[in-house]
Amino acid sequence: MILAELTAPIQNDLNRVEQTIAETLRSDNLFIQQMVDYLADSSGKRIRPALAILSAKYCGEVTEETIALGAALEMIHVATLIHDDIIDNSEIRRKQKTLNFKWGNEISVLMGDYVFASSFYLMAKKLPKNVLSTLADTTNIICRGEISETFHRFNAQLTESQYLQVIEEKTASLFAASCHTGAMLAGGEGEAAENLHRFGLGIGMAFQVIDDTLDFVGQQSKVGKPVMSDFREGKMTLPVIHCFNSASKAEKEKLTEIVLGRVKQESDLEFLNSLIEKYRAIDFSIQKARFFVEKAKRSLTSLNGKGVKAELLQFADFLIDRDF
Ligand code: IPE
Ligand code: IPE
Ligand code: MG
Ligand code: MG
Ligand code: MG
Repeated sequence: MILAELTAPIQNDLNRVEQTIAETLRSDNLFIQQMVDYLADSSGKRIRPALAILSAKYCGEVTEETIALGAALEMIHVATLIHDDIIDNSEIRRKQKTLNFKWGNEISVLMGDYVFASSFYLMAKKLPKNVLSTLADTTNIICRGEISETFHRFNAQLTESQYLQVIEEKTASLFAASCHTGAMLAGGEGEAAENLHRFGLGIGMAFQVIDDTLDFVGQQSKVGKPVMSDFREGKMTLPVIHCFNSASKAEKEKLTEIVLGRVKQESDLEFLNSLIEKYRAIDFSIQKARFFVEKAKRSLTSLNGKGVKAELLQFADFLIDRDF
């Protein structure tokens, strides 16, 4: 199934989320407004608001508050992406130049802050305190994940479990919070909200694992951002860790040298690619992603919401099968 089909039943709500984002980010400072307009020119998949809306629909009704929540979640996400692109030295995001390549790092740090602050302003104005506090916690966790990942750049010894911890923090936590808070606003009782949290966490893990495989096998024209860049930047993602775990002693030594060497030559990338092929590292990673999705789906089995569960389950499958 394609994303547009999955979101068709909630397109009206997603349009209202769009409007709320535009209103919240509006500024009478012309330069800020210019950047806000630039961000709006290319909008991304809107997965987090979609998850919040689907979770709300599943537990009860979508209300004004759910729309504000969707907007706030997307703004937290966008703020992390603005900062992430500075950290990762990325040139392209959502098929256009990143803010940092267009306006420089200084302005982009501040613009990331502006978007974070706008999100929290909206939450403080429109959402109950328990939701605000959940999302404040989550934002802290995302920062922790991005900091750990940055700390572990060029660490050839990073283990799979350390990697999983990082992606849980930097990515899965916001997926979990999107489902959880969507449910909370729709009156999802304790256990329902907890199960939706677990569901979000599982699909969020799978989502980042797939993102990390797309860095090797995706096409820039589809993913809308550069590929083959994580390893160059020293990011030890699952396909690379799998190569380390499978390699012979000689291969391991050579790979370690390449990682520690920091600046990567074409021949270094070719060597890594040969190991990825030899040890089927992409298949391994996709299997891992599937494992997380299946686990996520199981957390919904005992759940009986008012809405249709199939919409959430189909969404989970899309996140695995995507090529963008
Ligand atoms: C990108 O997220 C960052 C990751 C967590 C991998 P998305 O793939 O959801 O980005 P957009 O919002 O669609 O651009
Ligand atoms: C970023 O992960 C996740 C965030 C929480 C910002 P990546 O660095 O892999 O995301 P992309 O590939 O740049 O979208
Ligand atoms: Mg990045
Ligand atoms: Mg990053
Ligand atoms: Mg990535």
